[in-house]
Amino acid sequence: MSIQKQVSLAPYTTFKIGGNAHFFCAVASKEELIEAVQFAKQKTLPILVIGGGSNILISDKGFDGLVIKMNIKGIIQKDNILSVGAGEVWDDLVAYVVSTGLYGFENLSSIPGTVGATPVQNIGAYGTEVCQLIKSVHAFDTTTMSYVDLSQDVCAFGYRDSLFKHQKGRYIIIGVNFIANKNGSINIEYKDLKEYFKKEIENKSVITISNVRNAVVSIRAEKLPDWRKWGTAGSFFKNPIISNGAYNELKKTYPDIPCFAEPNNNVKIPLGWILDKVCNIKGLKHGHVRVYEKQALVLISEPGATAQEVAELARMLMDFVKEKTGIDIEGEVEWVN
Ligand code: EPU
Repeated sequence: MSIQKQVSLAPYTTFKIGGNAHFFCAVASKEELIEAVQFAKQKTLPILVIGGGSNILISDKGFDGLVIKMNIKGIIQKDNILSVGAGEVWDDLVAYVVSTGLYGFENLSSIPGTVGATPVQNIGAYGTEVCQLIKSVHAFDTTTMSYVDLSQDVCAFGYRDSLFKHQKGRYIIIGVNFIANKNGSINIEYKDLKEYFKKEIENKSVITISNVRNAVVSIRAEKLPDWRKWGTAGSFFKNPIISNGAYNELKKTYPDIPCFAEPNNNVKIPLGWILDKVCNIKGLKHGHVRVYEKQALVLISEPGATAQEVAELARMLMDFVKEKTGIDIEGEVEWVN
């Protein structure tokens, strides 16, 4: 395994932003990973593991440590259990699972990134979160220098949240064990999917998991920028979760504000709606970065964009939302300094 010096990280991210990694290597096996971690430990360097780079914003100064590009691959299927290497492309896995007729993955179609990143963020879309499909996460524990299998219940999954965010840097995910459903049912409760299948629902036609995958791919293509063409990291912020009381107060000023029920008398508010309908900032531009015209929760970086410009625009949006609604919003994208 070769360790390179001063490698530009921008091409490894979908934002296409970021300075150099002081050291960089790609690992394709468990042995190479141990070698890389030992190298970093000997030099007391921080480690950054990257997958598809679709949910990170790397600073213009780069990363003063070792960046490990996770390339451990492979899919082993035993009945409806799939053991998948962290470096596999997530959407290729979804396409494969759908083609085998197993249920559960189809609503998570078309999400960029690799398998190993999915538990970190607990990716979610159209009423499904990846934690519903995870049996366990196979990881390298950099504290004990050993491989561990972390069962679903110890991963502390929440909305775009997990143990891997709370114990940052401790675990390097090398694979995920998923359970797909053999006799499942489709979930088209999310508003966009209900609308897409309006006719089929009225006519009581059969809707297959392939139909759902195609629907999600087409809805996402319509609403979200294509990360292969544009610099973007999808939703830039999390949707805020606030109390019912705070929501009722907001409703006095903004009677149409939508909400989704959450446990403990809380509600989740679509921040895209607030940024769009309350702050009116679709298309707002700062330097080479702008708010996406079709989805206000998404930022687009044009060639020449810097992390600093993204940070400044993000700060402006945070201030607008705070001023108009009193809500403190949080990033969804991981910042790397
Ligand atoms: N809305 C607006 N204007 C906008 C954006 C949204 O009015 O500019 C409204 C929509 O009309 C809708 C509501 O806000 O009524 C919610 O919008 P949408 O269905 O597009 O979903 P979202 O809450 O903005 C979340 C996830 C997405 C995921 C979609 C679909 C987060 C932070 N984002 O977005 O995930 O694809 O739901 O399930 O939870 C991602 O994480 O990168 C991501 C794209």
